[in-house]
Amino acid sequence: MPTRTGQAIAYRWPIFGDEELETLRVVLESGEWSHASPAGYVGRYEPEFERAFADFHTVKHGLCVANGTVALQLALEALDIGAGDEVIVPGLTWQATAAAVLDVNAVPVLVDVEPDTWCIDPDAIEAAVTPATRALIAVHLYSSLADLDRLTAICERHDLHLIEDCAHSHGSAWKGRGVGSIGTIGCFSFQSSKSLNCGEGGFCMTSSDALRDRLDSLRNCGRRPERPGPSWTRVQSGNYRLTEWQAAILVSQFERFPAQLELRAVNAERLDAALGAIDGIHPMRRREQMTRHGLYGYAFRYDGADAAGFRARLGEETGVPVGSVYEPLNRSPLYLPRTKRRYEVPGQWERIDPTRFDLPVATRAYECESVVIPHEVLLASWDELQSIPEAVERIRG
Ligand SMILES: Cc1ncc(COP(=O)(O)O)c(C=O)c1O
Repeated sequence: MPTRTGQAIAYRWPIFGDEELETLRVVLESGEWSHASPAGYVGRYEPEFERAFADFHTVKHGLCVANGTVALQLALEALDIGAGDEVIVPGLTWQATAAAVLDVNAVPVLVDVEPDTWCIDPDAIEAAVTPATRALIAVHLYSSLADLDRLTAICERHDLHLIEDCAHSHGSAWKGRGVGSIGTIGCFSFQSSKSLNCGEGGFCMTSSDALRDRLDSLRNCGRRPERPGPSWTRVQSGNYRLTEWQAAILVSQFERFPAQLELRAVNAERLDAALGAIDGIHPMRRREQMTRHGLYGYAFRYDGADAAGFRARLGEETGVPVGSVYEPLNRSPLYLPRTKRRYEVPGQWERIDPTRFDLPVATRAYECESVVIPHEVLLASWDELQSIPEAVERIRG
């Protein structure tokens, strides 16, 4: 039986205090419990958070939506992507990235990832582009950033939209620009496990005035209550709004965010240095264009036998959760287009069948290599975190 030799690392998530109680009280007493209503936009925290989060990511417009899945769906709808279109998606991601494509009735084309970042492989994209391709979704997975320079060039060459799925990369920056601001639309999740969270929530950002207006209408039943009249954007839509309760939590949590981001980044760099010195352990490749490092999971690659056993032992010795990457989408038990009749359009099933895609790099990461530790652990002191490389050395023997 492995035994823990030191103290377990102390961590907790979410972190909250009087600030959250105060903003929630303000919402309660204001009676304005949702920012958007048929009568017009009211409420204070949603616009305040939208401005602050957009500014932090150096982008002109930001819009809160119900969750990260919906953010992706609305991004696709805003870009008028639908029946007959293909969208290139990494095969290694949370199922929502591809499910959003299915939900607008387009075809998710799954491509493999890079071995040392686990982000979408630009060479694989080039091979997957067809005349039906309209967009690609880059996911900045765990602690890595997708190669935005190459992806932007590919999109320009093939006239595609780039959507950034930033559910794992709040606060990261690429050559000084916030993630989510480089693609046509950037999408975020504020679900409870994320590094900025309000239980459930999502965000779309864009520099385009027209797309901002269209996204606004799409999230709010096709209405544009703040600008009634001839400029109304009328689109078929539903209710994808956030409440002021969630926005209040986001405003308070965002006060804490810059210091948390900084601490996680510093500790990740220290872990990279310490773990990188151990034989058979490979920290994820950091792109030189990454000028700020927002972390969701801290990840590294393990080169040895029995990765599952290694993860279990590391968790046992340090007292923190240690997981693998997601199961690749061509075999994921959560990505099952066939189980929804709405996708059974003639000819469509063969196109969306996930098992037709080959994802050897993603599969190797899932089965043999990946080690992922949640971001909240990185908020512990370095004194405590040192027990991670120490435990890895002991386990490696
Ligand atoms: C990469 C990625 N994209 C999208 C989402 C969807 O976000 P949400 O859970 O807020 O719908 C998630 C959530 O885990 C995610 O990890």
